[in-house]
Amino acid sequence: MLTKLLHNHRLAQGPPTFSLASMSDTNCDNAPGSSESPEQPMNEKSNTGTDMKFDMDPSTGRKVPHKKANEAYLVHQRWLEKQARIEKRKQYRRENRPLSPELQEDEKPDFSPLANFLFSMVLAALFSIVIFLLSGLFIQGDPLWGYRGKWTNWHRYIPRPMVEFTPEILSGFDGSNPKLPVLLSIRGTVFDVSEGYLYYGPGGPYHMFAGRDASRAYVTGCFETHLTHDVRGLSAGELKVLQGWYEFYADHKSYFKVGSLKVPPIDPSTPIPEPCDKAVSQKP
Ligand code: HEM
Repeated sequence: MLTKLLHNHRLAQGPPTFSLASMSDTNCDNAPGSSESPEQPMNEKSNTGTDMKFDMDPSTGRKVPHKKANEAYLVHQRWLEKQARIEKRKQYRRENRPLSPELQEDEKPDFSPLANFLFSMVLAALFSIVIFLLSGLFIQGDPLWGYRGKWTNWHRYIPRPMVEFTPEILSGFDGSNPKLPVLLSIRGTVFDVSEGYLYYGPGGPYHMFAGRDASRAYVTGCFETHLTHDVRGLSAGELKVLQGWYEFYADHKSYFKVGSLKVPPIDPSTPIPEPCDKAVSQKP
């Protein structure tokens, strides 16, 4: 009760000014710079033997009972004390004097609200990713919920120099040499399709696409006569189909881009390839 009265009296007078000199003169164990933080209430035995909590008033160095009513006052006192330390640090700097450890304490960077916000956002995103992966693992038995596509293709994340192929060089990568990768070109972009060896290797159903650019055949289905990059005369719809095949390779879970094909320009005076009899229709 007496402490409360004293406290109210002190509040009525307004917060007392704090001086570091007065702090260093006090005999308090919990003065700033001592090992115990003044923010944390201290536990002590009262005269009656019961456990009591105390806060430290930084302006006087005295212990005050840990009560809700005292909190605002103590926060203000601590703020004043910190300002005094900052002021003192500036003064030390101006005078080129070395800083004591408790003054160095304030050197720790205070993070801005924006940095705090960004940090919480990153934490929330990481947390969501972990939840997503774990739920996929428990519900579907696969952390990625069965997704396998371009984002799970590790080749995407390895930067590699792009190679410029000529038709002659590319023809050596048709799967006939098992030591070489299987490559094909579509619309002048060369992809490594070694993972699809069963389709593109010798004896595979789409071996004719390997080691060359047969863009026209992808659209017309003329797997014998249209094995050429010549796409003259194709309609907008057919070019869209070709673009679809390009994206099939570009977004594939295991194929990846390795370079481009340098082909001689098509002589416009040469005839456009004729439609064929044995055209294969697009996959249903
Ligand atoms: C212009 C026509 C066609 C083209 C250009 C074409 C092209 C291709 C290519 C490039 C692949 C290999 C896919 C890979 O690398 O994973 C493939 C696979 C396949 N094609 Fe065709 N195809 C055509 C028509 C057809 C037709 C008409 C059928 C069925 C009667 C068919 C059935 C299949 C099957 C079953 C596969 C294997 C796996 C899958 O479904 O992707 N294709 N096709």
